[in-house]
Amino acid sequence: MNAPDSQRSTVRWGILGCGSIAHNFVQALPLVPTADLVAVASRSNAAGFSGQYRDTYPDLTVYQDYAELAGDPAVDAVYIATTHNFHFAHAMLCLEQGKHVLCEKPITINADQLVRLRDTARRHDCFLMEALWTRFLPGIRQLTELLQQRVIGDVRLLQANFGIQVADDPQHRLLNPQLAGGALLDLGIYPLNFARIVYGRELISARSVAEIGPTGVDEVSAYLLQFAGGGTAVLSSSCRVATPHTALLYGTTGSIEVEDFFHPSVIHVRTGSHTHTYQVGYPATGFQYEIQEASHCILSGLAESRIMPIEESLQIISLMDQFRADWGLSYPD
Ligand SMILES: NC(=O)c1ccc[n+]([C@@H]2O[C@H](COP(=O)([O-])OP(=O)(O)OC[C@H]3O[C@@H](n4cnc5c(N)ncnc54)[C@H](OP(=O)(O)O)[C@@H]3O)[C@@H](O)[C@H]2O)c1
Repeated sequence: MNAPDSQRSTVRWGILGCGSIAHNFVQALPLVPTADLVAVASRSNAAGFSGQYRDTYPDLTVYQDYAELAGDPAVDAVYIATTHNFHFAHAMLCLEQGKHVLCEKPITINADQLVRLRDTARRHDCFLMEALWTRFLPGIRQLTELLQQRVIGDVRLLQANFGIQVADDPQHRLLNPQLAGGALLDLGIYPLNFARIVYGRELISARSVAEIGPTGVDEVSAYLLQFAGGGTAVLSSSCRVATPHTALLYGTTGSIEVEDFFHPSVIHVRTGSHTHTYQVGYPATGFQYEIQEASHCILSGLAESRIMPIEESLQIISLMDQFRADWGLSYPD
């Protein structure tokens, strides 16, 4: 019989879906002493993926069937790394087998799916968290501390864009509606998440516009948010045009520039004519911080993370539901 999580010193992880982002997870995992990788499942590339990590993980169990991974008693927790459209079904598969789940962003494609996952996790005493890696990075901890110290007074305006240019291929996962493509769900989630980190209070108004492309998904979308007590965010995302990934925060006594705001390492604080630059890098892929948090919560018997609770994911996905409803953009079932 397996020991309960509270009697273990490491979480035995499995990976479901071995595409591009799963590599970031595997490469960061050795940096987390409380995490071990014991199994992977891929329908298309199980042997090829696991073969790349044979030196680090010679005893990996390799499945071509996700249900076998979900049913493996040697696996405590599963990282879901398939495309957005599959997150709900794959997370549900694992939760119903009593596995803890860390699921890539967006955790689901709508709020209703997330509520169902949350309820299932509670019923099975399982931990559930969205793998929105930005939240856990040292650069974000540094930024949060600076804001708590009010180094630029009250933040009143935030600007952040996340635009990349993907290949002009209707099958690309960001353009394909069957894979829940579109800029909002894949990229827009980052500035929306960032605005919630910066303001950390109730959202009182949200508007958006989108350019829907020939495949039926949003290729360029922009969002205007207003938070209680003053605080505006002007945000955008795009999978057709590349933009700088710099966030600009304007406060009553200065400004902050966050380079690569979705994984920041460099933060410039400007007050008057003075600029102070904080360098807050991280080793490897940076996924070690979310793995560390999830592993810590699981070993401590927590149902959710305090850093990225389900309510926070629910707020973000509900906002994205609202925007998509305004644009008339829905995904196939
Ligand atoms: N945190 C981050 O920085 C970050 C960055 C990129 C992506 N992501 C998230 O990670 C998730 C996966 O993204 P990715 O770039 O890794 O995707 P990907 O490489 O295109 O696909 C990931 C896996 O999904 C399955 N899959 C993909 N297309 C499929 C299809 N048409 N039919 C059936 N299965 C399919 C495959 O699983 P098998 O291995 O089983 O075949 C594939 O290996 C997305 O939800 C994305 O939002 C996060």
